[in-house]
Amino acid sequence: MSNIRVLISEEEVDKKIREMAAEISKKYEGEELHLVCVLRGGVFFMCELAKRLTVPVTIDFMSVSSYGDGTESSGQIKIVKDLDESIEGKHVLVVEDIIDSGRTLSKLMDLLESRRPESLALCTLLDKPERRVVEVDVDYTGFQIPDLFVVGYGLDCAQKHRNYPYVGVVEE
Ligand code: IMP
Ligand code: MG
Repeated sequence: MSNIRVLISEEEVDKKIREMAAEISKKYEGEELHLVCVLRGGVFFMCELAKRLTVPVTIDFMSVSSYGDGTESSGQIKIVKDLDESIEGKHVLVVEDIIDSGRTLSKLMDLLESRRPESLALCTLLDKPERRVVEVDVDYTGFQIPDLFVVGYGLDCAQKHRNYPYVGVVEE
């Protein structure tokens, strides 16, 4: 059994998501917001965020692969599951679990931009700025964290540990 050290507690994550939801609701006041969740890691964060938004929300899912079961980004992205609906003319907010090298997100944002949304923004629960290889414009960030491999709140290590209600570090 691996031991998990809590890095960001459930209470801290919860408080932060409420703050982010308030900020995003204010920004999109009077508009409809289309949330694009990046599977699978973004799903916990997206649900918690969506529940607290006060503007009308629609959701869609996309799955791109970058990591496989290891801990290093390959630099390639593959669309495993595309969106079900067109984003043309919509205010789109991409919801991610974490931005690491930035490779996955920069490719994904370019792809989505080419589909002519009315606006396109990016929201992430976690950011590891020290690890950035490709620049990405992040509009809303929950927490900046040091260069650690984290799990929980949707984040996995070889598909495990996603279900923890906090963000933690695996200690073998
Ligand atoms: P990037 O292309 O290097 O920015 O990789 C982003 C993706 O890698 C995220 O959406 C996660 O799925 C995964 N990832 C990056 N860092 C971590 C981590 O610390 N724990 C779990 N998954 C991570
Ligand atoms: Mg992932």
